[in-house]
Amino acid sequence: MAQLPYRVLCVCLGNICRSPTAEVILKHYIRQAGLNIDVDSAGTSNYHPNKAADSRSQKFARIKGYDLSALRARQVVATDFEQFDLILAMDHSNLNDLQALMQRHQSMVEMPLKATFALMSQYDSVYPQQAVPDPYYGDKKDFERVIEQCESAAQAWVKHWLSREDLQHIQNQQKR
Ligand code: 4NP
Repeated sequence: MAQLPYRVLCVCLGNICRSPTAEVILKHYIRQAGLNIDVDSAGTSNYHPNKAADSRSQKFARIKGYDLSALRARQVVATDFEQFDLILAMDHSNLNDLQALMQRHQSMVEMPLKATFALMSQYDSVYPQQAVPDPYYGDKKDFERVIEQCESAAQAWVKHWLSREDLQHIQNQQKR
């Protein structure tokens, strides 16, 4: 029987700069490693519903070979805490907001919610436990920094997932 993929949600404030960039970069390294993991992204705010990723994020990502053009912004919804295994916050404020949202949802449902939280930078040895800084009011270097940090953090997550014995069902699908 086919195994269900592990599900990861990348979250920032607006879902137009950092988390769409993280989504596409994580998907790239996951595909390269042959992992059976689905990735999506969302924002804690509803500032830009159904909007395409910020044109600056798209531009600097495209230079590095990443295509953000198909993504559309959405807000985090309560069912995300039931459907995703892991929710990756881009910064500490996103993490606090997510934890508060999940606590509120947990108090309204009977079943234990399955999502766990971490910072995008959890296993990143270059930017350990650091925020991916919000580039929205920044310039070129701030958008380039988001890509650099997402590349570094995504590679660290893939290495982590490949090393987890309890996640063998999502590892190296095509080699089985
Ligand atoms: P993001 O960046 O959280 O990385 O998508 C932002 C996008 C929009 C706003 C703030 C941050 N905003 O205030 O509209």
